Amino acid sequence: MTGGTVALAFSGGLDTTVCVPLLKEEYGYDDVIGVTVDVGQPESEFAEAHETADALGVDHYVVDAKADFADLCFEAVQANASYQGYPLGTALARPVIAEAILGVAEEQGCTALAHGCTGKGNDQLRFEAVWRASDLDVIAPVRELGLTREWEIDYADEKGLPVEAGNEGEWSIDTNLWSRSVEGGQLEDPGYEPPEDIYDWTDAPSDETETIDIEFEQGVPVAVDGDEMEPVPLIEYLNDLAGSYGVGRTDMMEDRMLGLKVRENYEHPAATTLLTAHEALEQLVLTKDERDFSQQVSQQWSQKAYEGLVDHPLMDALNGFFEGTQQKVTGTVTIKFEGGQARPVARESEYAVYSADAASFDTETVNGIEQGDATGVAKYHGFQSRLANASKPELAPDGGDEASDE
Ligand code: ARG
Repeated sequence: MTGGTVALAFSGGLDTTVCVPLLKEEYGYDDVIGVTVDVGQPESEFAEAHETADALGVDHYVVDAKADFADLCFEAVQANASYQGYPLGTALARPVIAEAILGVAEEQGCTALAHGCTGKGNDQLRFEAVWRASDLDVIAPVRELGLTREWEIDYADEKGLPVEAGNEGEWSIDTNLWSRSVEGGQLEDPGYEPPEDIYDWTDAPSDETETIDIEFEQGVPVAVDGDEMEPVPLIEYLNDLAGSYGVGRTDMMEDRMLGLKVRENYEHPAATTLLTAHEALEQLVLTKDERDFSQQVSQQWSQKAYEGLVDHPLMDALNGFFEGTQQKVTGTVTIKFEGGQARPVARESEYAVYSADAASFDTETVNGIEQGDATGVAKYHGFQSRLANASKPELAPDGGDEASDE
């Protein structure tokens, strides 16, 4: 038999609760410790985890990783990161959570790590990508034992495990500082319109509007309306404020890593506001070439982040690119919350790649260039296209084949 202690990623929900006895009975561990990592979930989730751990007689550890997580969210802002329109909250949180659990496991002398993810989702891959770099064993009871929800409910009932009916609610929800995800139940049907009550962070958009100034230093948000804030409170503040204007709702079909398409609903008011503001500032300070190339880098960054591979060597290289461009992303963007949108309405920076004179219709000469100088450019523009079109073979009328006309 295996023996030793296993550290379980613990939420107190049905999956992780049934894992506790299974890790002893089926896998032969002497002891299980539960670890919950704080990446900005609501207080009630910690209370639930704590009570459930108590009732199970499991030692429960809570690690506060909010600050680390917020720093990673701000790296995502610098990278303009989103995956198919989703700002990656769950995806970014998983490596942070996995690292924190590994830390506790090592401190407590555990020989193994376990999670309650199923074999269908992304999170199993994200957790294990971190854990499999350690010497500890990695266990995924729900996946390995092929458990279903019904089986888990029966098992919990039979064993008298502390899972209250209604504990789990109608939807499967995952919340952290950067986004709140709602999935499952009727929402799995792509044709089902979500009822208003799936939303918790956002009010339905109204006619009210509000304008705020967001200040960036080298691509990192540092102040709102002149008040300097640390990353965690800044994100929390904007989630509240932008959420009250209905900003940051996404209803999408998402391509998971294993290839399954799933219907996902998200709320991410702060992420939408900060990503929008950051891009607006980049429009002002980056050259066209930097902006164009940045989109490709951003797409790669987002893909790797979605996969939970923030430690991938490619990420270091991509971050190197952003370190370069972000030098100039310092300035202020004015955002207007209006009609459920966060819309940039003004921007300023000492690094603006912008000449009011050059763009204006009122000036004759700028840096020795005058309007008439564009004549030569205009003559060349489209030259190749004109040549090609002039020598193009005639297409048959109707695009059809001529024989049928006879
Ligand atoms: N689909 C998202 C992702 O893989 C979020 C899933 C969150 N889980 C949940 N039970 N709502 O990043």
